[in-house]
Amino acid sequence: MTKRFYVTTPIYYVNGAPHIGHAYTSIAADVLARWKRLDGFDVFFLTGTDEHGQKVEKAAAAAGLDPQTFTDQVSADFKDMAEKMGLSNDDFIRTTEPRHKAACAELWRRIAANGHIYLGHYEGFYAIRDEAFYDEAELTTRPDGTKVAPSGAPVEWVREPSYFFDLSKWQDRLLNFYEEHPDFIAPNSRRNEVVSFVRGGLNDLSISRTTFNWGIPVPDAPGHVMYVWLDALTNYVTATGWPDPNASRAEFWPADIHLIGKDIVRFHAVYWPAFLMAAGLPVPARVSSNGWWTVEGEKMSKSLGNVVEPRTLAATYGLDQVRYFFMREKPFGADGSMSDPALVTRINTELANGIGNLAQRSLSLIARNCEGKLPRRGAETPEDAALLEAANALPGIVRDKMDRQVFHEALEEVWKVVRAGDGYIDRQAPWALKKTDAARMADVLRVLVDTIRPIATVLQPFMPGSMGKLLDQLGVPPEVRDIAGLAIPLVDGAALPPPAGVFPRYVET
Ligand code: MSP
Repeated sequence: MTKRFYVTTPIYYVNGAPHIGHAYTSIAADVLARWKRLDGFDVFFLTGTDEHGQKVEKAAAAAGLDPQTFTDQVSADFKDMAEKMGLSNDDFIRTTEPRHKAACAELWRRIAANGHIYLGHYEGFYAIRDEAFYDEAELTTRPDGTKVAPSGAPVEWVREPSYFFDLSKWQDRLLNFYEEHPDFIAPNSRRNEVVSFVRGGLNDLSISRTTFNWGIPVPDAPGHVMYVWLDALTNYVTATGWPDPNASRAEFWPADIHLIGKDIVRFHAVYWPAFLMAAGLPVPARVSSNGWWTVEGEKMSKSLGNVVEPRTLAATYGLDQVRYFFMREKPFGADGSMSDPALVTRINTELANGIGNLAQRSLSLIARNCEGKLPRRGAETPEDAALLEAANALPGIVRDKMDRQVFHEALEEVWKVVRAGDGYIDRQAPWALKKTDAARMADVLRVLVDTIRPIATVLQPFMPGSMGKLLDQLGVPPEVRDIAGLAIPLVDGAALPPPAGVFPRYVET
């Protein structure tokens, strides 16, 4: 039976240029998608852009462009960012595409046909920046008398005819669902927030707008466009070819995991399952949310001029180096601060001096002392066996960490083995064995190759380019670079290409 895995990023608002906050969730999703492919799954990895709503309409007007021209441009920029960050997405969805408009209309019809939509009048607060409705109790009043949302976004008073979704009736079903699916929301702190929010009672949700028209028309309701979050969330089913049951990706629904930022948990963990249940569709298995990045401890903002552009960062430090940093520097669910010195420290201590150095030392000794040929596997000492055992345990350990999105812990486990390898090479001193016991020297070097191979294999999702080069140098054929392939030993005596460093030290110029 095929093991399938469907992973998504949020779809990004096209009101401005991509920054590292966007790149981060995308890189995490890419790491997961690549890992699952490596681990034998048939993967569908989706990213894309969220193009409707007032926020985007306003940004287009400010740029002096019609919304479609504007969104075409900004969406193309996000697509370029995805490519430059090495994303292996299988599809890139835009909410302005016909396939998506059709899926949204159908989802609306099904929710309506099941009796969960009614026409009414909305009167209340709305924050365009968050594209969210707020209760007065959620707002705070600034010293100047203006009211702001919990996110700090300004709110305005909105009064308009609107269709409503009967969210208030879903409280018990949602609470039961969370109880029956304890892994639905991660991390646990977010799960607790969601559960207490739902326990506090839910209001019916306004799901159409009538005061602007940059949105997907509500079926058979002239003047109404869909609330942008209903439109946006639907992207995840659109991309599976829904509602066509014969679409090639139909089997991927429900998604295995939505990776999102912590600010949009309510939409994904409350509204989305309720919409899906109301439409009679299965609910995704998990919503895992990431914390926010600051830059040197400061919130990124255009006014502070500290917005970090991910493509520039990759061009300066190297793509794999940047991907590694993001996955290693902080736990996925937690907030964290990025800075150039922190990035350089990770590059130099863990990549250049860590895995890079271990590989370079081992491979250059083979090049010099073994005629560049892979030594055959000899008799194992207890020390050899201990190191190999630790290295061979990595796939199982990494699998468990990936399934819980504790990427930094997966890397920490890999690094324990790199450090063990460093200790091993220092103690065994193969360079000294050359004169005293050439056979043992060869054994030691082969143990090192067989240790570095699983390390490089499990690191491929994080640093695909560099690990590909390292596996080339270890002589690992492309068809056995996945987890299953680790069971196939390397061929004794195979000629290895001349070693070349994969991670240069970063030196400020
Ligand atoms: N369009 C909605 C998502 C719809 S998904 C059906 C949206 N877009 S967004 O472009 O504003 O944000 C996308 C993601 O970027 C969010 O998950 C948000 O948390 C994340 N980030 C934005 N700034 C961030 C940081 N500074 N750090 C980390 N992630 C941040 O919301």
